[in-house]
Amino acid sequence: MRRTPIYYYSSSSALVRTFAENLDRPVLNLADRAVRQSQVDGPWVLLTPSYKTGNPSNDTIPEGVRRFLRDEVNRRAMVGVMGSGNRNFGTHYQLACRQIAARSGRPVLFEFELAGTPEDVAECRQIMADLDAALDRAHASVG
Ligand SMILES: Cc1cc2nc3c(=O)[nH]c(=O)nc-3n(C[C@H](O)[C@H](O)[C@H](O)COP(=O)(O)O)c2cc1C
Repeated sequence: MRRTPIYYYSSSSALVRTFAENLDRPVLNLADRAVRQSQVDGPWVLLTPSYKTGNPSNDTIPEGVRRFLRDEVNRRAMVGVMGSGNRNFGTHYQLACRQIAARSGRPVLFEFELAGTPEDVAECRQIMADLDAALDRAHASVG
């Protein structure tokens, strides 16, 4: 069964990377130029932090994520969105994840704070395993 890859963005504090690397599946960092300029080969999930910049549009979506989603093939194949945030940001909590989900019509699959807890990692692994199985069934029924 195909393990749905997760494309994530992580800054130098690497909280999201720490979480992603515990998920036991292919994970790719959109902070790497070669990754954000690439094209996916099938369904994938986005994992993004939110970064409030203080600009007037209240934009919190990392530039690497924005760049990757400019590609139509990538946009179409995205099946869900996950977010890492910090509740101290109040109304901006998980804004990037939630805005991308709303604009794309894809579901928010999971949200956690900072690098997550071991329980968050376990829950996310289960969500992704269920998604792999659902995509496998969908593929079988059209194939
Ligand atoms: C400057 C700055 C702005 C942030 N803005 C937000 C925000 O608007 N909403 C939110 O939920 N979290 C916000 N966070 C928290 C980060 O999204 C969170 O710590 C995330 O885990 C960082 O992942 P990374 O270390 O992999 O880059 C902010 C953190 C920093 C340092």
